[in-house]
Amino acid sequence: MKIHVITLFPDLFPGPLGESIIGRALDSGVVELYLHNLRDHGEGPHKVVDDTAFGGGPGMVLKAGPLAASIEEARHGTAGGGRSDVPVVLMDPQGERLTQQVVDRFAGLDEMIIIAGRYEGIDERVRQRLVTHEVSIGDYVLTGGELPAMVFIEAIARRVPGVLGGEDSGKADSFASGLLQHPQYTRPAVWEDEAVPEILLSGDHARVDRWRREQSLLRTLQRRPDLLNSVDLLEWEREFLRELGWQS
Ligand code: ADE
Repeated sequence: MKIHVITLFPDLFPGPLGESIIGRALDSGVVELYLHNLRDHGEGPHKVVDDTAFGGGPGMVLKAGPLAASIEEARHGTAGGGRSDVPVVLMDPQGERLTQQVVDRFAGLDEMIIIAGRYEGIDERVRQRLVTHEVSIGDYVLTGGELPAMVFIEAIARRVPGVLGGEDSGKADSFASGLLQHPQYTRPAVWEDEAVPEILLSGDHARVDRWRREQSLLRTLQRRPDLLNSVDLLEWEREFLRELGWQS
């Protein structure tokens, strides 16, 4: 998958994306990251990329010209080969809230362009004409879109086939199944007088699977009961939840 990022701060990348699992995905080329410096398309000798808002008010707005030129570069430059159907995603608190479902929708793409916005926003004409999707990583405002872009890329990259080692490890993630993850334990079996649940030492995989599923259901009921309404539950799972007081 090819991911282009348009940013005023390309030196922030790959940053945390350069380490560990995602770092290896970048090294191996399963995920390709292309950075496009908005400043390269700034106007005049000072390479201006922003200006005050028409109508007044504090803060600066990213200008249409440099942004449009950066999108064009991403499309025609390093990787796109002139494709005009590549999604252009603006990181913006006004966007669709990022969830695992949103991540999985984007993880199926072969290429995308991400705009890490700054300041008070971008010229609305670019948003209308060139931006195809807007994504928010949550209901709070950050100074810029670089950290949101990294969060988005990290979440997408780990869903790209071949990025996670064990094929199953992504499937068990919180949210991937629609439920929160079950508790996990590792050695030692007794730590500070506290033993791990005995069933996990039993070697009985069917019973372990059942216990884990029950724990997932319990944890989701306790912490995020709203999620239960969007999961396909088996009859025994519904019964299990009802016994715990779930009212569907
Ligand atoms: N830019 C600033 N805040 C943001 C947020 N919460 N999500 C996405 N992009 C942003």
